[in-house]
Amino acid sequence: MTLLMVAPDLKTDRWVTRLRDVEADLDIRVWPEVGNPDDIRFALAWTPPMGELRRYPRLACIASLGAGVDHILKDPDLPAGVPVTRVVDPSMSQYMSEYVIMAVLDHLRLAAFHREHQAMARWRPKMPMLACDNQVGVMGLGQLGGDLAAKLAALGFPVVGWSRTPKALAGVTTFHGPAQFDHFLGRANILVCLLPLTPDTQGILCRRNFDKLPAGAYVINVARGAHLVEADLIDGIDSGHLSGACLDVFRVEPLPSEHPFWKHPKITVTPHISSITNPQVIAPQIVENYQRVMSGLEPLHVVDAKRGY
Ligand code: NDP
Ligand code: OXD
Repeated sequence: MTLLMVAPDLKTDRWVTRLRDVEADLDIRVWPEVGNPDDIRFALAWTPPMGELRRYPRLACIASLGAGVDHILKDPDLPAGVPVTRVVDPSMSQYMSEYVIMAVLDHLRLAAFHREHQAMARWRPKMPMLACDNQVGVMGLGQLGGDLAAKLAALGFPVVGWSRTPKALAGVTTFHGPAQFDHFLGRANILVCLLPLTPDTQGILCRRNFDKLPAGAYVINVARGAHLVEADLIDGIDSGHLSGACLDVFRVEPLPSEHPFWKHPKITVTPHISSITNPQVIAPQIVENYQRVMSGLEPLHVVDAKRGY
């Protein structure tokens, strides 16, 4: 009974060590050293090569090494009927909420302005913005967005949220579905994208939707690069309608060195680190799912492949 790691872009050693800390006898293979494909029962995947996962006739579960599964579900040759799971863990929400709150406060407290003046040894007091004047709009109220919305509300921010189905969250005014989307956008001075990437959400951060935001709105994208129409963001900022953006995810990662986002004075770039699947924390739940599958039980955190998340 073999677990295969198919994660060409990750440092797999740390994962193998942590998985073996939990279950010393695990038979782990690391792609592309696969051995006999018939041995493989459980695949642990992050951006697997397209078509790879159909090579294992006895595969019983595909586990995403992240909260998102778009990198797996986009494979047109994904083996039918094999459950796909994702990571759900409070540590992921904590990391993400910390990052977004940092970005919101960085914006409100004019941190870029003060860093620029520090670099010139200039003392320039400037009035910060008030939380109560800046409604934060959270797109996606799932594991991550729900936690963020609650923490922002606890910090005294007015918060609006948008999801596919109706939600009730203390301290958050909620909207759902396409019919209520424009009402939601119209109230978001700071717009945070925490949606899964699906055919319905691809390109949702676009000119049409930016135009619905209040003047001076700030955009934070921590979900997936393909949610954003990059040229529309730059136009929105350069026209003055948007005040800036903080971006952690990109259509092409690593973000190419010549990309205009790197040097744009009103865009903050980070390298896809807003939330982290920490091997030390997450290995136990991977091993638990492996053991469930090997005992004939349903794995935990299975996604709905048709819905896309
Ligand atoms: P969840 O599946 O828990 O939540 C998804 C939320 O999005 C739900 O509230 C869902 O609505 C909503 N949603 C989905 N489709 C639509 C739609 N068409 N219209 C409106 N709302 C929609 O996901 P997580 O919170 O765990 O993660 C969200 C995403 O964050 C991941 O898919 C991943 O891409 C990204 N991510 C990024 C990381 C990073 O480091 N940058 C780290 C981890 C995740 P409903 O509740 O009604 O179903
Ligand atoms: C994830 C990510 O989906 O890190 O977990 O992007």
